[in-house]
Amino acid sequence: MLNEYARKPLAGKKVLITAGGTVERLDPVRYLTNDSSGKMGFALAAAARDFGAEVTVVAAKTTAKAPDGVSLVRVESADQMLQAVLSRFEGSDLVIKSAAVADYRPAMRAESKIKKSGDRIMLELVKTTDILQTLGEKKTSQYLIGFAAETGDLDRYAMDKLQRKRADLLVANDVSEEGAGFNADTNIIRVYDSGGLVEALPIMSKLDAARRVLLIASERMAQMEA
Ligand code: CTP
Ligand code: CA
Repeated sequence: MLNEYARKPLAGKKVLITAGGTVERLDPVRYLTNDSSGKMGFALAAAARDFGAEVTVVAAKTTAKAPDGVSLVRVESADQMLQAVLSRFEGSDLVIKSAAVADYRPAMRAESKIKKSGDRIMLELVKTTDILQTLGEKKTSQYLIGFAAETGDLDRYAMDKLQRKRADLLVANDVSEEGAGFNADTNIIRVYDSGGLVEALPIMSKLDAARRVLLIASERMAQMEA
């Protein structure tokens, strides 16, 4: 691993990474979000930087500290993340969608704080745009990596997402497994391509897992260029 590290396998590459959990506002003080810490996205950013890449991270809500030496773009909602990613997509060589993006957002965003009223109120949600799928449809030469946090039939869900979203690689983890959760410092990942499972990694730090994923991606990107 140290030798690979010194080789800087992503030298000269522009890498765009999304991290954290999106925030979908209901009113000025309330929002819907999820438990993503941003740790995996930031680990990928640090690893890509160490591999020699020029790294941009589009981050929604995170609790982890962003790595030094990467350019950080802060967003809140899925829609803002979509815009931030789309405007940077063309100039990117590798795009990694590790953010936990809300699938639904409130249909209405109140300008002022919603006042308490009856015993029961309805919250209407509308679907957000799938950012990864949008990129999958638009991609030209960009290498695209998606993530999937699942509980249950990992292989089936992962392959379904890889195909549906036209990702080149899909990194899946079972969040119900100890050591693979949202806020953990470790992860247990399985990496897939269009042919199926590429690698099933044991439990390791998110930084080591990130290095493994980037190594697989950099080898494949080099093959595509050759
Ligand atoms: N994703 C995205 N935009 C969305 C939802 C998801 O870009 N609006 C991306 C995630 O960043 C991740 C991949 O799609 O890279 C898989 O996300 P996941 O939530 O596992 O998949 P969904 O298609 O939303 O399916 P479900 O939540 O029903 O499992
Ligand atoms: Ca989802």
